[in-house]
Amino acid sequence: MNSSAKHRPLSAHALCKSFDGTAALDDFTLKVESGTLVTVLGPSGVGKTTALRILAGFEMPDSGTVKVGGQIVNGPGVFVPPERRQVGMVFQDYALFPHLNVGRNVAFGLEASGRSHRVAEVLEMVGLAGLEKRMPHELSAGQQQRVALARALAPRPQVILADEPFSNLDAALRKRLRAEVRSILREAETTAIMVTHDQEEALAMSDRLALMNEGRVVQTGPPDHVYRNPANAWVAEFLGDADFFDAYAKGGRITTPFGTYPTTRSGPVKVMVRPESVTVFPHAQGTAVVTYREFFGHDQLLSVKLPGKVTLRSRCWPQPALAPGDRVAVSVDGLHIFDEPQEPPTPPDNPPPGAPVPQQVVIPR
Ligand SMILES: Nc1ncnc2c1ncn2[C@@H]1O[C@H](COP(=O)(O)OP(=O)(O)OP(=O)(O)O)[C@@H](O)[C@H]1O
Ligand SMILES: [Mg+2]
Repeated sequence: MNSSAKHRPLSAHALCKSFDGTAALDDFTLKVESGTLVTVLGPSGVGKTTALRILAGFEMPDSGTVKVGGQIVNGPGVFVPPERRQVGMVFQDYALFPHLNVGRNVAFGLEASGRSHRVAEVLEMVGLAGLEKRMPHELSAGQQQRVALARALAPRPQVILADEPFSNLDAALRKRLRAEVRSILREAETTAIMVTHDQEEALAMSDRLALMNEGRVVQTGPPDHVYRNPANAWVAEFLGDADFFDAYAKGGRITTPFGTYPTTRSGPVKVMVRPESVTVFPHAQGTAVVTYREFFGHDQLLSVKLPGKVTLRSRCWPQPALAPGDRVAVSVDGLHIFDEPQEPPTPPDNPPPGAPVPQQVVIPR
């Protein structure tokens, strides 16, 4: 395969997959543009690995379509096997061949011509130049992870799929490797999907996030957009910290314990506030009381009880030092309103493609 074959988009449309009558994927739809990294983020058991395995060709969907580089690889009457999809897979446990040295692991699946040159090239790319003769058990976990990545990149796949590729690494190595992997993927202009449980990793590494719940993608977009504009209460609560309370909108206003805000809604609504939007000030006549404090050095997290049984958290500058029992005034810099059923938050429905997200507004202060 020549280099013009890399840098291709991937798409999955309406994938469904059940195991023993239980749906693992239910209308899973995702588009990944050429050369971008999409992170799939979601709770355990929502179908992330199943989706990746179908995209790679290791699992058959019950229905739906997969395209790689514009070509259908799964569809009615079409199944292209994994080895012909030009999709590299990095498994969570690395899956290196224990009896083969690094060079032979990376060379696995490469054509004979130019093989040793390509092995040296990708080992250089992942910072392991010259380690061809080492056996997997002679490598650290991080080095094994890089060999797995080199093996996936070696045939110049159109797409890399990585299932929790850093999950077995310690926090420091994880941080360093994710930056390295990001730049390796950019350098190789590879289209990539990475599954992770780690929100910080997803927010830091991705061009786009795909939030997944109950077998389907609930919201996609650039990390900062999804964080600032969650499509519904479930996304808001899953991605980042969020506090909710019930309120009532009437006459174009919504009244909260920290002020009134304009709204086009009427009737009961759910209000969401992120802790970093909440500032507190020591105030002898304040209507709110600090109930809890966690000190982190660079900032602090306060829990504050307001009138009307509303509790908010505030992530703020750690000065002045406040303690439980202190009376405070509260200022909120932006809130979100959802027209959703009240407690408990229900799993969201997948909006039709291209549909606006009508149930949520952001009201700046
Ligand atoms: N081969 C299988 N046979 C039966 N059920 C399966 C199989 N593979 C997955 N499942 C089920 O499908 C659902 C989705 O599993 P999947 O492994 O895709 O979840 P996941 O999102 O990757 O979870 P995690 O974050 O824990 O890795 C789960 O209920 C799981 O038990
Ligand atoms: Mg999984």
